[in-house]
Amino acid sequence: MPRLILHSGSLLDVAADVIVNAANSTLLGGGGVDGAIHRAAGPELVEACRPLAPCPPGEVRVTEGFGLAPRLIFHTVGPIWNGGQSGEADILANCYRNCLTELARRNLASIAFPAISTGAYGYPAAAAAHIAVTICARHPHAAGRDIVFAAFDPQNQAALAAALRAHT
Ligand code: APR
Repeated sequence: MPRLILHSGSLLDVAADVIVNAANSTLLGGGGVDGAIHRAAGPELVEACRPLAPCPPGEVRVTEGFGLAPRLIFHTVGPIWNGGQSGEADILANCYRNCLTELARRNLASIAFPAISTGAYGYPAAAAAHIAVTICARHPHAAGRDIVFAAFDPQNQAALAAALRAHT
């Protein structure tokens, strides 16, 4: 079993081997958590991202952390919510799966996720939290690792807390 941890506040305050960015396919930065990560990491990050783009939804690209070092950054692109009938859940699940696979491939112990897609991309918080927690709790590569869910706003805090309670 992984250790599933709820962190109330910014992803940037989590000490983990990896922080996950909720990016867009260009990987060139944006608002929300993406903007916060790029600001904290510094201008070298966008240069490191440029050759790794485009990143299709559900996939992951890896960079060093620059100003956020020694943490690595896993950039993943969540689905844009379009009512739920356009494969959004599968894409969101793939974001978490692919990050955990990459974590294990690098033999790292801990990872911190934001609530991917629940901001600008409009994914409902409760449904997103259910997918995040279910995938992470069950993924074979998650076993023995620390998985932190950063809840930046009250809605995601409540949604993630409820999803985590359902798994204990
Ligand atoms: N730490 C943790 N979570 C944060 C932080 C932070 N510092 N800042 C924002 N968030 C939360 C938001 O509250 C939201 O719940 O991250 C969640 C995801 O929201 P967005 O950052 O808007 O990401 P997403 O919905 O996946 O949309 C991606 O937004 O900025 C752009 O370039 C990004 O185009 C892409 C899109």
